[in-house]
Amino acid sequence: MLTGFSSTAIHAGHEQDPHYAHITPIYASSTYVFDNAEQGMRRFSGVEPGYIYSRWGNPTMTEAEQKTCAMETHGWVAPDGKSLPLKAILHASGMAAISTLMMSTLKSGDKILSHYSLYGGTQELTDRVLPGLGIESLILDLRDLNKAEDALKSNPAIRMIYVETPANPTIQCVDIEGLTALARQYKKIIACDNTFATPYLQQPFRYGVDYVVHSTTKFLNGHGTAIGGVLLGRDVEFMETRATKVHRLLGGNANPFDAYLLITGMKTLELRMERHCHNAMEVAGFMDGHSGVAKVHYNGLPQHPDHAVAMKQMRHPGAMMSIELKGGLKAGVNFMNRLKMCTRTVSLGTCDTLLCHPASMTHYGVPKEQREKYGITDGLIRMSIGIETIADILRDLDQALEV
Ligand SMILES: Cc1ncc(COP(=O)(O)O)c(C=O)c1O
Repeated sequence: MLTGFSSTAIHAGHEQDPHYAHITPIYASSTYVFDNAEQGMRRFSGVEPGYIYSRWGNPTMTEAEQKTCAMETHGWVAPDGKSLPLKAILHASGMAAISTLMMSTLKSGDKILSHYSLYGGTQELTDRVLPGLGIESLILDLRDLNKAEDALKSNPAIRMIYVETPANPTIQCVDIEGLTALARQYKKIIACDNTFATPYLQQPFRYGVDYVVHSTTKFLNGHGTAIGGVLLGRDVEFMETRATKVHRLLGGNANPFDAYLLITGMKTLELRMERHCHNAMEVAGFMDGHSGVAKVHYNGLPQHPDHAVAMKQMRHPGAMMSIELKGGLKAGVNFMNRLKMCTRTVSLGTCDTLLCHPASMTHYGVPKEQREKYGITDGLIRMSIGIETIADILRDLDQALEV
């Protein structure tokens, strides 16, 4: 086992290229040829390993998949002393990975138990798409384990607990270990979206979680150059059969160019996350004392309600935070317009500091009462703290804030 996280991130999954290319090339080939019909037969029957068609798999995508497995299990072994075998399936987007997860594990009549703060796309999938297939969801504050247990006791149809921690955009954290223990006790499956934390900061499989999903678009790629997602599972047989079948048939496959960008990005994950997290702590401290800021939501601050849970399961508190400006919508719009260096955009996890004002951007069309129920107030600014020089980030934020 490689001892350092970066050694794993750099070397895991890499195989000697048949043409001795140093870096795994972008295998831009839709199909793979057979020496003869017998070989085709052996490949299709699974007797002989090998690529057939890129919707099903491709050498560039395989390296990216294997790196994510190695990073999610880096540094620990399962209770039997062995390293946990995992299988990852790379997807075209985080939403494609989540769709494969839902479609391969759930059926009509099943229910999902989820925390009320989730990425908007996941929320819409569970609210608008899955009910049409007979899959309903129950949304609660899963930070309260008693509430979660009551729900599991009174709703035998719950098949899956689905969490995102830290969650988008409130940075709330749920207790992965506590919820996984409940999932085991009540014989449910549990899945965790680990996008905000990345496997460098948090490894949900340590606690016995069944599935992990990532939007690789974010910190794993790290440079904002490609959309992507990955689904990882500890039941390798299920992943190789049902999940693989659903992935291939839904067609949400990744492509080799995006996989190549992802491989390149993941190699520097540790370096980037260390700097992202250091900068985030500085920004949180600065915002916390600022007269124009009503509230800072950052799980690294001791007053954050989920600070203890975050510290229990994360190496560092992460690079995502949100702040509530005094002065509501107008203050939010003015602040965004005054930024000089930081970037006004949606998404997160890139080298530059990204700021989004949900009330005037992502949630513009959502009625105020509805978005406020999920903590998205008029003056809320979501920030993905980048790896620029901290003095420059602070200077830009300072000059943009109203005093
Ligand atoms: C936590 C989280 N999960 C999933 C997704 C969806 O990922 P993608 O946009 O790659 O489909 C996002 C996107 O922002 C996200 O923030």
